[in-house]
Amino acid sequence: MKKTVLITGGSGGLGYKISCHFAKSNYRILWVSWSETEIIEAKQKLISNIQNVEIEYFVTDLSLTQGSQNVFNWVTENKWTIDVLINNAGFGSFGFFHLSDIEKEKKMILLNVFNLFQLTYLFLPEMISHNKGVIINISSNSSFIPLPKMLIYSATKAFVTHFSKGLREEMKLLKSNVRIMTICPAAIYDTNFKISGKMEQVKTFKGLATTTSDEVANDIWKAFLGKNDFVVSGKRMRFLYQFYSLIPYRILQYIAQMELKEA
Ligand SMILES: NC(=O)c1ccc[n+]([C@@H]2O[C@H](COP(=O)([O-])OP(=O)(O)OC[C@H]3O[C@@H](n4cnc5c(N)ncnc54)[C@H](OP(=O)(O)O)[C@@H]3O)[C@@H](O)[C@H]2O)c1
Repeated sequence: MKKTVLITGGSGGLGYKISCHFAKSNYRILWVSWSETEIIEAKQKLISNIQNVEIEYFVTDLSLTQGSQNVFNWVTENKWTIDVLINNAGFGSFGFFHLSDIEKEKKMILLNVFNLFQLTYLFLPEMISHNKGVIINISSNSSFIPLPKMLIYSATKAFVTHFSKGLREEMKLLKSNVRIMTICPAAIYDTNFKISGKMEQVKTFKGLATTTSDEVANDIWKAFLGKNDFVVSGKRMRFLYQFYSLIPYRILQYIAQMELKEA
């Protein structure tokens, strides 16, 4: 029987690139995003690139509290079983916290944290009862230390990393075969993320460890086919990460702040 992958934000950026891997492996693709125009364009592109791909989509705003419940209801009404859930939709912002647009920051918390946590909560029980399934949570290298001027974003991603790694341990305690994967990409320069977050001038997108959506999607696919559940993505970031625990916090902060300077 055809397997099904649900990808939030699947019609754009990294989500689209991950979708291509699953589509080539004959998964039914379920996309959830908030712009129907973007979804329809992306759907046509995917269909013209990959033969016989099945794509269904649902339009909802995942920065609203009811977003994840709407998604769950749509999946249930269609009697689909989710084999792979990819919590990918997310955005960031740049600037001092006290000067930030507080409504936008609240939406970020709802999208990056609340709906990721709630979608996981809604889809996990069926996976546990079938003793199979994979949840892939897209976090960030911003989750490793608090980032001044990207404070709320790095805090939301710290939640994602902590939550996902901890949930993986719970699956082990339950002796469950359900996999929880945590993905921490470096700065990706070829998606809409830096534009929507008004970060086009921030050095990190041309910096030390910057990467591409293709490289991150390839890393995720390789890990999905293998056994690695914690992925630091982008080969330069992966190399640097080996030394993270050896570098004093003040030096890490210094490097991060250099990376976050505006050109
Ligand atoms: N780019 C980076 O440097 C970077 C680095 C590390 C981690 N990440 C993480 O990787 C993930 C994907 O980011 P990306 O770089 O591919 O960014 P992107 O190009 O902006 O893609 C994000 C996707 O999420 C959708 N989305 C945004 N807000 C939404 C909402 N309220 N409800 C439903 N869907 C929404 C977007 O739709 P629209 O295009 O219609 O807005 C888009 O399809 C995010 O979780 C991000 O935090 C990114």
